[in-house]
Amino acid sequence: MAEKTATLSIHQGDNTSLEIDLPVYQGSLGPDVVDVGKLTAQGHFTFDPGFTSTASCESQITYIDGEKGVLLHRGYPIEQLAEHSDYLETCYLLLNGELPSAEQKEAFVDMVTNHTMVHEQIRTFFNGFRRDAHPMAIMCGVVGALSAFYHDSTDISDPHHREVAAFRLIAKMPTIAAMSYKFSIGQPFMYPRNDLDYSANFLHMMFGNPCEPSVISPTIARAMDRIFLLHADHEQNASTSTVRLAGSSQANPFACIAAGIAALWGPSHGGANEAVVKMLDEIGDVSRIDEFVARAKDKNDPFRLMGFGHRVYKNFDPRAKVMKQAADEVLAELGIQDENLEIAKRLEEIALSDEYFIEKKLYPNVDFYSGIILKALGIPTSMFTVIFAVGRTVGWVAHWNEMISGSYRIGRPRQLYTGYQSRDYLSVEQR
Ligand code: CMC
Repeated sequence: MAEKTATLSIHQGDNTSLEIDLPVYQGSLGPDVVDVGKLTAQGHFTFDPGFTSTASCESQITYIDGEKGVLLHRGYPIEQLAEHSDYLETCYLLLNGELPSAEQKEAFVDMVTNHTMVHEQIRTFFNGFRRDAHPMAIMCGVVGALSAFYHDSTDISDPHHREVAAFRLIAKMPTIAAMSYKFSIGQPFMYPRNDLDYSANFLHMMFGNPCEPSVISPTIARAMDRIFLLHADHEQNASTSTVRLAGSSQANPFACIAAGIAALWGPSHGGANEAVVKMLDEIGDVSRIDEFVARAKDKNDPFRLMGFGHRVYKNFDPRAKVMKQAADEVLAELGIQDENLEIAKRLEEIALSDEYFIEKKLYPNVDFYSGIILKALGIPTSMFTVIFAVGRTVGWVAHWNEMISGSYRIGRPRQLYTGYQSRDYLSVEQR
């Protein structure tokens, strides 16, 4: 596999140096990758907090070029998928590697549709939560609890079991997400409606009630579908890496996805969409933008402009471009005048022309616009990250499945230890 090698020269204290030859791999796209796996045997580790320079696995699912703003799923640009595909077709693509034929798509959609209900006993879980629990807290608990229900699909060495687990997760996430919202507002849970498509059914479970038929706007359903699609996968981000790490110990798939949900929740990751709207509310008026931009630039102030910056994208986030266009379309179609949108647009202009943001290559990311569009669709702020989790579930499952079906070892990073050297225990009188 490796046609090139790199030599690492480690200078020793005694004027000698240790030369270590390392294989260098070429992917189908992207930079060459130096394999440092053999360093341990030579008495060394690499040090890379935050994994900024570390490829943790080999993968064929998603490719990102952060400099050029490229995002490909199985080779297909995200812009083309957002325009021509839909969420479930993109799920099929991510899981299976190819776009489905008409028959394959129908069979896939049928399978997902047939798994939308959750075990009736799951409903009782919700009563254990406080009504004001954050829906992401409920998602962590309830999705993890699925591992206690589906014993017939947890032999992870069996490809069929893995496939059933994937269907269950993709199908049940919107149901559990909507239940977590209904619980928080004290309304009855809505059973899924299998005559509706994936996104329309989600809106029915979120906003419907048992007293009257749900009326679902096709514009909103289409926008919702596009939001799920734009979040479907993003290679080895924090939550996906968490799912892989948890899965590498051969843990239960539902528990692994719950771990991913936990990692997604933070404001540096999926929690940013909620944080963006809170920030725009806090800014409150266009006249206060300069004040917040100054705070973001102040080293002594922990405040950051939420929805700006990305570990990988250093030019633009292609998802943000599509999301911005979708936000404009939805707001125009629904005739919504949103004050936050005005603030967001002005903030974007100011930040993009500011030396600090230019120099640090901080651009609006997907979460900057998704918050605005979700608000326009009537989704409550506390549900924003939950919606990210629903969309990302397929990515988590696809990566977990890719790992389990290939060769893998338990993930076990090492450390640069800077604590005490060995010392003797002192009795309490001697301390
Ligand atoms: N506002 C102000 N300054 C920033 C921001 C920001 N949003 N983001 C980064 N910086 C500065 C940061 O202070 C640092 O400056 P310096 O070099 O002087 O210390 C420099 O830019 C590099 O930042 P970093 O934290 O080392 O970069 P990172 O790659 O570790 O973090 C990030 C990436 C997305 C966590 C970060 O940009 C951030 O906190 N952004 C706001 C939260 C956000 O929008 N997150 C959503 C990410 S996209 C969706 C997803 O994948 O979940």
